[in-house]
Amino acid sequence: MTDPILETNPIIFAAIEAEKKRQSEGLELIPSENYVSQAVLSALGSAFTNKYSEGYPGKRYYGGQEFTDVIERDAQDKAKKLFNAKFVNVQPLSGAPANLAAYFALLKPGDKILGMDLSHSGHLTHGHPMTFSAQLFTFVPYKTKTLKEMKNGELAEKEGNGDVRAIDYDELEEIAVREQPKLILAGFSSYPGSIAWNLIKTIADKVGAKTMADVSHIAGLIAAGVTSNPLDYGFDIMTTTTHKTLRGPRGAIILTNDEDIAKAVDKAVFPGLQGGPHMNVIAAKAVAFAEALHPNFMDYQQDVLANAAAMAKRLKNRGAVLVSGGTTNHLIVLDTWKTWGIPGKEAEVALDDIGITVNKNVVPDDERPPLNPSGIRLGTPALTTRGFTTQDCEEVGSIIYDCLKDLKEGTNKYWKHSLRKRVRDLAKKHPIPASFV
Ligand SMILES: Cc1ncc(COP(=O)(O)O)c(C=O)c1O
Repeated sequence: MTDPILETNPIIFAAIEAEKKRQSEGLELIPSENYVSQAVLSALGSAFTNKYSEGYPGKRYYGGQEFTDVIERDAQDKAKKLFNAKFVNVQPLSGAPANLAAYFALLKPGDKILGMDLSHSGHLTHGHPMTFSAQLFTFVPYKTKTLKEMKNGELAEKEGNGDVRAIDYDELEEIAVREQPKLILAGFSSYPGSIAWNLIKTIADKVGAKTMADVSHIAGLIAAGVTSNPLDYGFDIMTTTTHKTLRGPRGAIILTNDEDIAKAVDKAVFPGLQGGPHMNVIAAKAVAFAEALHPNFMDYQQDVLANAAAMAKRLKNRGAVLVSGGTTNHLIVLDTWKTWGIPGKEAEVALDDIGITVNKNVVPDDERPPLNPSGIRLGTPALTTRGFTTQDCEEVGSIIYDCLKDLKEGTNKYWKHSLRKRVRDLAKKHPIPASFV
């Protein structure tokens, strides 16, 4: 039988087939990407794509909602269980609108928000001047520092942890006392460490601010219990995308344990920001949540961490400069400028050429421009879904190192073929799985 897409639009059919080939023959190291299961893909392509269901379960503006209510309630139940939360909104279309809805649930336009500085890995929605969030609210940034730059830095240096980066909580407290924000926002897109939720909550309580965690990057790690959950420390709101480490469809959810905040979130999402929810995506979220509740999800997330640590160690041992000196989560930021004098954009293109997909990324206080910054960002969620082991991830680290060293030495046109073969061999060894349970 001919594929219905081929019959209807051959251009799209060809692009989908080419993308499937690209994804299976190359290595995906963008830490915010992953492979979803066939079950998630089927839910995305299900009959729910046809259905309008503005409102919430039991309170819709259209008829015919027996089954939409079933899927939205199931997605809610499973999300609450995964994240140990009393309330959730599963309708946000993606991470950026979820954050905007969360700000509106907690604040009034003009209110002040403390958020992680963007070059220190805050997301665009955490205060980039081009975003609507930054036009509507007043953002004040806080930063990370290396341990050697902080109080008792000599000790950290002596113990070999001097390069590790963390939020400077003393400085954050000073900023909070000075600025009197209404909200302290914690979350990141490229920070290879963890956040002390308890310290942020204590600082927020001291100045009477609300707390919000955007855990888009680490939601899978939290759901599996391999990293801590800000809601367990009393955070008011937690937003997360459902793609990335959580391995679901593109979309987001907003969680809280406070009933009044939950009501404000519901109003902010609909009708505040959105119209009809994408019910096919909510069905796919519920399928992904069921997969994440499976006991093997914890093994997967532990492997994500072990693989990132193995790749970072190999890169470092070969001589690469890593932001924070390594990683304790699923991502690595490699300073290509400090290591080889190669800008991140060139590194991204060179790696793409041998079948490794990464993204250029700023390093803290980057002196280079965001479109051609000093580093690249690497992550292990997608490789781990394919069953890559720590040895495989060490080999990926070596391939990246060899490729960029060749680029620096001008020998890359000689070695490219062998690098491409090493990539293809790894990809062949680990086909993309169709199911995770
Ligand atoms: C921490 C964080 N928040 C929000 C977002 C935005 O998510 P989306 O791209 O789904 O709008 C991202 C995306 O990369 C992110 O890393």
